[in-house]
Amino acid sequence: MEKKNIDWGSLGFSYTKTDSRYVSYWKDNQWDDGAMVEDANVTINESAGVLQYAQTCFEGLKAYTTIDGKVVAFRPDLNAQRMYDTAHRLLMPPFPHDRFIDALDKLVKANLAFVPPYGSGATLYIRPYLFGSGPVIGVAPAPEYTFRMFCTPVGPYFKSGIKPLKLQVSEFDRAAPRGTGHIKGGLNYAMSLYAGHEAHKNGFAENLYLDAATQSFVEETGGANFIFVTKDNKVVTPKSPSILPSITRRSLMYVAKEILHLETEERPVPLDEVAEFAEGGLCGTAAVISPIGSITTKKGVIYLPSGMEKMGPITQKLYDTLTGIQMGRLEAPEGWIHTI
Ligand code: PLP
Ligand code: COI
Repeated sequence: MEKKNIDWGSLGFSYTKTDSRYVSYWKDNQWDDGAMVEDANVTINESAGVLQYAQTCFEGLKAYTTIDGKVVAFRPDLNAQRMYDTAHRLLMPPFPHDRFIDALDKLVKANLAFVPPYGSGATLYIRPYLFGSGPVIGVAPAPEYTFRMFCTPVGPYFKSGIKPLKLQVSEFDRAAPRGTGHIKGGLNYAMSLYAGHEAHKNGFAENLYLDAATQSFVEETGGANFIFVTKDNKVVTPKSPSILPSITRRSLMYVAKEILHLETEERPVPLDEVAEFAEGGLCGTAAVISPIGSITTKKGVIYLPSGMEKMGPITQKLYDTLTGIQMGRLEAPEGWIHTI
């Protein structure tokens, strides 16, 4: 397969238009057959549910070229399931699991020339999304929906690459108890833009959001979950009903326990405990594992002992194992790798 002439190593996390994308429409209570199309633009009614009342959700997953030249996706069944759950919460017709995987296969096959080569440092980011495309004017679910999936080659999510990040505790909340923090609705991201802009203006890479009810427990960032490592090498991740159930986090906790034989804990994490941790990182499809250097709180700055130059040793092991599995250098747990 001849690749596109792209400087893979200098890609950031930005949009590059690829050759084709998958589209399916829901009308009269059913999904149509779906098809690959070339047009990257979407034409919808002016009163579409997505435009008026933000009835939209998305997913994010990646395809990789493995060391032996295969193209694979990482746990796409979990993205299909999470999108199903999100659609349910936003009163949208869920896109069936098998159709999701079929769309993924078709999309990546049609855009193989954009799949970054093994060892290039880049990956193919895949963005499934589902939105109300039929018109509404009273507040109600839309009468018609569109499911689309496109892909774009990407590099690291954070400009600093794998250098430890500076975070601040946000003045704003990300998600309310009993709200929508656990689903991947566009609404959660729209309302994080202002807070994210403030963080960047203050010189921080991201916000750390606290739980809205008590302002005392660590939740997540705008686009990634947290993992921490205690001084006695336990891997800890916050448990909360208002954070997104990250597939990367679930995978890392499995890797920590079953492959690296470390103790793991998923439990509420008070902000006050963070100063005691040895290492910390943001984890997600886009973020992979991005180490944390410091967290600025109202009470002062927490510097993680792993420092501002490189990942801590346990974080590095988690990173090497996860990316090793994704790139085919290490054997994957059953069902984690989907060959395109
Ligand atoms: N939390 C939020 C708010 C996200 O947007 C993401 C990205 O998808 C994650 C966590 C990480 O989830 P995953 O590991 O499934 O990509
Ligand atoms: C992902 O990691 O796939 C996400 O959706 C996060 C997004 C903020 C880029």
